[in-house]
Amino acid sequence: MLKGRATAQGTAAYAGRFATLPGNYRETIGVAISSIGLGTYLGEPDAATDAAYAGAIRAALAGGINLLDTAVNYRFQRSERVIGATLAELAASGAIRREEIVVATKGGYITFDGAFPPDPRAWFEEHFIRPGIVGADDLVEGSHCLTPRWLEAMIAMSRANLGLETIDIYYLHNPEAQLAAVGRDEFNRRIRAAFELLEAKVADRQIGVYGAATWNGFRVAPNDRGYLSLLELTRLAEEVGGQNHRFRMIQLPYNLAMADAFTARNQRLPDGAMGNTLAAADALGIAVCASASLLQGQLTRGLPPLLNDAFDGFDSDAQRALQFVRSTPGVSVALAGMSSPAHVADNLGVARRPLAPFDRLMRLFKRAG
Ligand SMILES: NC(=O)c1ccc[n+]([C@@H]2O[C@H](COP(=O)([O-])OP(=O)(O)OC[C@H]3O[C@@H](n4cnc5c(N)ncnc54)[C@H](OP(=O)(O)O)[C@@H]3O)[C@@H](O)[C@H]2O)c1
Repeated sequence: MLKGRATAQGTAAYAGRFATLPGNYRETIGVAISSIGLGTYLGEPDAATDAAYAGAIRAALAGGINLLDTAVNYRFQRSERVIGATLAELAASGAIRREEIVVATKGGYITFDGAFPPDPRAWFEEHFIRPGIVGADDLVEGSHCLTPRWLEAMIAMSRANLGLETIDIYYLHNPEAQLAAVGRDEFNRRIRAAFELLEAKVADRQIGVYGAATWNGFRVAPNDRGYLSLLELTRLAEEVGGQNHRFRMIQLPYNLAMADAFTARNQRLPDGAMGNTLAAADALGIAVCASASLLQGQLTRGLPPLLNDAFDGFDSDAQRALQFVRSTPGVSVALAGMSSPAHVADNLGVARRPLAPFDRLMRLFKRAG
């Protein structure tokens, strides 16, 4: 197991090695994180995809990307395992130090072990129900669980897969998945219990900070059944962890086609006014990581010509799409799923450029509107 975690000093030293990427690193959750992070969601659960991700991770860490994002269920634990194996290899060779790299993972969804089992129900029964990790009533939609007992088991599984003593960022994975089934009061009770467990894991140094990685929750209207209020979540964290609680980062999709984090004024701010999710996060001291920056690859080809004008001088649609996300004020990191070293190289081309000025982004919204 690699000891320690990302530190201010370690990440600053890492950033200092990339003089060709000025402005690429932002102070986020107390460490320097690259404006683009590598995601590991997509791809088949097979050895060829593992090898592809290993190559992309090596290229990313060597090229200036120091945030890796995963989840215990991605590719049935294989994404976590390939991150763990690659970090161990690079740390052993001296190419990286643990303190330089920020690793984020998530728990909430049921996961299998490397492959889809022939009888998933029996497999789940044997591995999770019989040992008492999950009670039959704990599951929502047969696939999602947020009980402290489950999260404790998932954190242990992720630390083993990643080979890390401390996971830098631990997200509850799509917590809003529970809302349709359990209603808001019970949901808040479950989140509170989850946060209690996560605060204890912070104290134990098993995780650094925690948060919520979401799909719809922060994008929909307050009257939507799956709506998440960042202010309410933060209040729950404060009840459990006091003013120094470690609920410090959220993740939500944000890209040229899904700009709700910026355009939807669906969050109550601490002063009582309504604002967008980015403004709420800023007011509450919570960092924002954008997921699906390329709309799962769909924004990498055939963008309308007006985007060529808005982001002139870029080589590819993927670069333009990433530049939009990472330049939006309030976004700390733009995640791009990358299992190809060629895509890592292309996306690092963005990190070499200055951020797009705010008025240029605003012109884009006006033109699109
Ligand atoms: N609810 C959640 O918590 C949630 C939901 C979605 C995503 N996420 C996180 O966000 C990360 C990013 O989202 P995503 O992976 O779903 O989608 P994405 O980043 O929008 O797109 C990834 C796809 O784009 C391709 N790509 C990357 N760079 C490219 C380039 N320069 N040119 C052409 N194609 C390129 C990748 O191909 P290759 O693989 O071949 O490089 C992959 O197929 C995920 O990996 C995950 O870590 C979290």
